[in-house]
Amino acid sequence: MRLNFGIITFLLFYSIENLTAQDTTYYGSIQSIIHNKCVNCHKVNGYAPFDLSNYEDIKQRASFIKHVVQNRIMPPWKANHNYLDFADNKSLNENEIALIVNWVNGGCDKGKEDKRLVKSETLTHIDKPNLVLTMLDTFNVPGNNKNTYICYKIPFEIDHDTFVKAIEFFAGNKSVVHHASYQVLEVADDADIFKGPYYFMYDSDTLNRVKDDHDYKYLNLIGKDGELPVELYHNGWLPGASLQKYPSDIGFRLPKRGVLLIRNFHYSPTPIAQKDLSGFNIYYSENVPSRKIGFAAFKPKNPIPDGKWFIEAGDSDFKSVINVRFHNDVSLLNINPHMHRLGRHFKAYAVTPTQDTIKLIEILNWDANWQEFYRFKHMLKIPAGSILHAEAVYDNSVNNPENPNYPPKDILFEWGMNDDSEMMRLVLLYLPYQIGDENISLE
Ligand code: HEC
Repeated sequence: MRLNFGIITFLLFYSIENLTAQDTTYYGSIQSIIHNKCVNCHKVNGYAPFDLSNYEDIKQRASFIKHVVQNRIMPPWKANHNYLDFADNKSLNENEIALIVNWVNGGCDKGKEDKRLVKSETLTHIDKPNLVLTMLDTFNVPGNNKNTYICYKIPFEIDHDTFVKAIEFFAGNKSVVHHASYQVLEVADDADIFKGPYYFMYDSDTLNRVKDDHDYKYLNLIGKDGELPVELYHNGWLPGASLQKYPSDIGFRLPKRGVLLIRNFHYSPTPIAQKDLSGFNIYYSENVPSRKIGFAAFKPKNPIPDGKWFIEAGDSDFKSVINVRFHNDVSLLNINPHMHRLGRHFKAYAVTPTQDTIKLIEILNWDANWQEFYRFKHMLKIPAGSILHAEAVYDNSVNNPENPNYPPKDILFEWGMNDDSEMMRLVLLYLPYQIGDENISLE
């Protein structure tokens, strides 16, 4: 006992000492800030245009880095942390900004590498994935200045079933990849998954109305006896979204034989033809996850059933809401609000049967360029009978600098996905609740 006590006091002294004499060199403090807050995007194959995972790359861009952090241009982080803070909050605090600025002003001192720290948890997002699945062939994005929507299959066969603790979509051609929504599917043994075609294009007006079995048949995902694929995981990627990772007994099974189906793959309009080869980094789990992750995407109810709903030109305060009742206790993992460029604000919360409010997310200055799948700090319990409320505000006036139309025009709401449409989605990744979930950290 006495021995333990001694060790604790020693550790306390040690860390206080460390704080007072903060080592402001690269290895002393800058490396860990950049790795925690920047490298998930600024890495080889990452979403950002250049790598910031080593000293030389950072030093070379030092004055630029100073500029973007001082002006809070980088890292992009849109959720209002005064409403609810998240586990993967990338924003820098005042102290971190000051450290970077002083470090750059002082000439980017490298300092000494402490080998003990190199393998720390914070660097895991640049660990090598166990499996990389890329599109089998480059996709040629037409240069017709229109949005392109495709459904693309990546068939795979591995030695045996395994389990996944983290998955990351990477955009091959960042200038045109707009978003991707994907499913991991297990298929019948006799489904001819490696046979083409690998993709089909959606007609942008009918996108929301295609039937699963028709698509599956076209892509050869159905067994000889008509056995349909089974979805094991579903998630999405939007610009700025990070690696999706889960605590140890949560994840999904990656079947021996299956398909990563990019169900809805959206390329932005481009005046010149472009090529894309996107894919996924997959990280295996050491444990067998006992709990399967659920995916739910909510949308607002059209007040004119089956009719067209518009945001009128000039309307600077168009509001849309989602109200959903939870029938069972659930534990939330991630939340992802989605709108296009007319979006201004987004807020979501749940009201429990005892009238308590559970805050979920608030985004005050929506920016369609940065759409994270925000991870809660702890699993967040939503009791059965709670009502989820989400409110979104859109600005279709000339005062919205993001308005794609000048002068503004009537915009279709929740119909199709062409150039003239807006939408509201709230995506949740969740598990059925188990006692003690609220104590499980997602940091
Ligand atoms: C969510 C992803 C993401 C994170 C996190 C992120 N960046 Fe970036 N960064 C980008 C992308 C994408 C671009 C290029 C697009 C643009 O210019 O907006 C970029 C551009 C930059 C640029 C060039 C700016 C310019 O105007 O061209 C610098 C410098 C930069 N980032 C530094 C950082 C630093 C330093 C951090 C961490 C403190 C960071 N970024 C975190 C995605 C990210």
